[in-house]
Amino acid sequence: MSTSHGSLLAVYPGSFDPLTNGHVDIILRGARLFDRIVVAMLRNLEKSPLFSLEERLEIAREVFADQPTVEVDIFEGLLVDYARRRGASVIVRGLRAVSDFEYELQMALMNRHMAPALETVFMMPGESYTYLSSRLVKEVFALGGDVSGFVPPAVVARLGALQTKG
Ligand code: PNS
Repeated sequence: MSTSHGSLLAVYPGSFDPLTNGHVDIILRGARLFDRIVVAMLRNLEKSPLFSLEERLEIAREVFADQPTVEVDIFEGLLVDYARRRGASVIVRGLRAVSDFEYELQMALMNRHMAPALETVFMMPGESYTYLSSRLVKEVFALGGDVSGFVPPAVVARLGALQTKG
């Protein structure tokens, strides 16, 4: 999609700890819709992430290496400030079920309050991903379950490394 004003840049923000097949699905859908999509990973102060920010960055860069219009970046501070700096006009968020809606609506309206020109666009992942979340993947993995069907091979490989370490 492009406009007469130039190319349309979207930012897809999140923690991506870890990147799931549901995220990948949304990013590929976004890449078809926008000229460029930036997967923007939040640098937050969470004490015990599964993967460090550097590992998450490396994973996503590996997964989208063959997608020239998908960029992976890190941001901190307000998302709207980052989007403004990047010249993005759209924030993409995935919506799986009604249960996501209230939090997402709050964020979208707060972001709109701070940056009225920035539109939040909600995208639905394929239906097989509606039950999938990073939080559940982390929990199932921590309890010894098999998560290989839910995350890209780049994540599976690193989970294997974590297992041998721990
Ligand atoms: O993957 P997540 O944890 O659902 O992503 C949440 C994220 C990163 C999109 C949100 O926490 C965020 O935008 N944080 C940056 C700080 C910010 O702008 N906060 C105000 C949001 S209204």
